Amino acid sequence: VKLWGGRFRKPTAPELEKLGQSIEFDRRLGLLDVRINRAYVAELRAIGLVDAAEEELITRGLTLVEEKLSASPPPKLNDEDIHTAVERLLGEAIVELGGDPSVAGKLPTGRSRNDLAASEFRLYLASAIESAVAHLLRLQRSLLDRAKTTRDELLPGYTHLRRGQPVVFAQYLLAYFWAIDRDRARFRAARGRCLSLPLGAGALAGNPFPVDRGRLAKTLGFEGVSPNSIDAVSSRDFALEFLSAAALLGTNLSRMSEDLILWASAEFGFITIDESYATGSSLMPQKQNPDGLELVRGKTGRLVGNLMSLLTTVKGLPTGYQRDLQEDKEPVFDTVDTLELVLPVMDGIVRTLGVRSDAMRAALSHDLLATDLAEHLVRKGVPFRETHEIAGRVLSLAAEKGVTPPELSLEELRQVSDAFDESVSSVWDFRASVEHRATEGGVAAKAIAQQIERAESALS
Ligand code: ARG
Repeated sequence: VKLWGGRFRKPTAPELEKLGQSIEFDRRLGLLDVRINRAYVAELRAIGLVDAAEEELITRGLTLVEEKLSASPPPKLNDEDIHTAVERLLGEAIVELGGDPSVAGKLPTGRSRNDLAASEFRLYLASAIESAVAHLLRLQRSLLDRAKTTRDELLPGYTHLRRGQPVVFAQYLLAYFWAIDRDRARFRAARGRCLSLPLGAGALAGNPFPVDRGRLAKTLGFEGVSPNSIDAVSSRDFALEFLSAAALLGTNLSRMSEDLILWASAEFGFITIDESYATGSSLMPQKQNPDGLELVRGKTGRLVGNLMSLLTTVKGLPTGYQRDLQEDKEPVFDTVDTLELVLPVMDGIVRTLGVRSDAMRAALSHDLLATDLAEHLVRKGVPFRETHEIAGRVLSLAAEKGVTPPELSLEELRQVSDAFDESVSSVWDFRASVEHRATEGGVAAKAIAQQIERAESALS
């Protein structure tokens, strides 16, 4: 079956047919195609373009089509695309029901595959995003739960991958929590953008029959109708917003994976990856590799690639439907599938992460308190730029003498600055350093508790 051909004298070149076939991937939209058809035939009935008997026949036919499409194993479909397949199957179903197959031909009245394809793609994406958002919520929940139990685990915080200042492990987990929270907000916004109904735009100029687009939207679960028929069939920015949100999410998950991989290495040893999320080596028996995290990091490449792919496709297209737009589906499907694979693994890894407090503590060296030393003198009225210099010189002095900074005597410290007195000994305490950072968002216990509360309300 072909949905066009009257104007053609020659058959389509088989190689063009092969190039143009999208059934292999757009068959995923089959059930949505049926659902939209069902709503549409009701509209045709409401305006008298089909009678009650025809509506019933088409509706029953669509139910049969639905059953066929959801059968396992899935049916072989060799049509140009899923819309063609559904029309063909509907004709066959109506014959099965003892009806006149030409009734099926009334269904596409006033409608084009352009507005149909865009509508079902939007519906598909809206529900795929819902699922991704549910995964993100679970991941956030796990991060938050783990944060609650790791607020006393002191470890170095890093910049340039060099030890910077003492923090608590919860602060890292919460850092990921907030990044994912923004990702979730981006997905939700993208979903809202999907829910504007193109159906009724026809090929480009609108529907010549007075179907009620608002009612169609309502029946199908859209929030409203697209305001412009040309925009409705041309635009794919809703899909790009999704791909972009997914690519950004990917970069967040990838950075997080990188942290966890490093921290789980023997060199750091701060955490352990549960065996159920690690794999072995076919050659080296001792290995437990963090493949799950590596794959999360690796899959980010395709998430970014899918965004680039569709951006490149739409750039420079004339306004209106162009067949290029058929290339919108595979990158989106691939990103949806990738998220479905990656997110549960990330969640599982976070939930089962082992925390090695001793190793974290052991990585705390006194040089991490150099900033605190400088700030100690600030509290005594010395300008920070001077105290920064003084603290640096104290570290040099300790290195010269081959001792740790707390081992320097008060006399030695006073050689560097006479602002030092006995109270300096209070500086050499990692927990105290953390407690000094008590402004909102900081690592002090009070600030962390506040942050956890804020995170809880972000989830509710
Ligand atoms: N398979 C096509 C797509 O996904 C359906 C629309 C075809 N429209 C057309 N005018 N050839 O874009």
